[in-house]
Amino acid sequence: QAQDAAAGEKVFAKCKVCHIADKDQNKVGPSLNGVIGRTAGTHPGFTYSAAMIAAGKSGVKWDEPTLTTYLHDPKAMVKGTKMAFPGLKSDQDIANVIAYLKQFSK
Ligand code: HEM
Repeated sequence: QAQDAAAGEKVFAKCKVCHIADKDQNKVGPSLNGVIGRTAGTHPGFTYSAAMIAAGKSGVKWDEPTLTTYLHDPKAMVKGTKMAFPGLKSDQDIANVIAYLKQFSK
C-alpha cells in the first residue's frame, strides 16, 4: 500500500487529542515519538493498562503489521487497552498515519 505522510498528518488530527508525535511528551496517551520499533507499553513516565504492558511482555513491538492491526481495532488486538479510540476504518488512512509516525522514529 502506498504511503503518504502528508495525508497521514491529516489523519493524525484524530490522534492529537491524546498523543504527541513530534516531541517526546506524554499526554492522555503515551508519546508516539519513536514509536516504530518500540516494545508496546514501555514509554517512560506513562501509566499503561495492564493489558498493554502484557502485550509488550508477550513480544508485541510496534512496526507496520502490528500498528495496522492495532489501529484497525485497538480493543480487539489488546483486550483491556485503555485507549478510548474505536480505530480507523480505512486501510489507506492507517498506512498514511504510519508513514507520518515514521518521520518521528529512527
Ligand atoms: C496507546 C496510536 C488515538 C489514547 C497507543 C499506542 C499507539 C497508539 C501506537 C501504543 C503506544 C505504546 O505502546 O507506547 C494511536 C493513533 C491514534 C490514537 C495512531 C489515532 C489514529 C488515540 C486517542 C486517544 C488515545 C484519540 C484518547 C482518546 C491512548 C492511550 C493509550 C494509547 C490512553 C495507552 C493504552 C493502554 O495503556 O492500554 N495509541 N492512538 N489514542 N492511546 Fe492511542
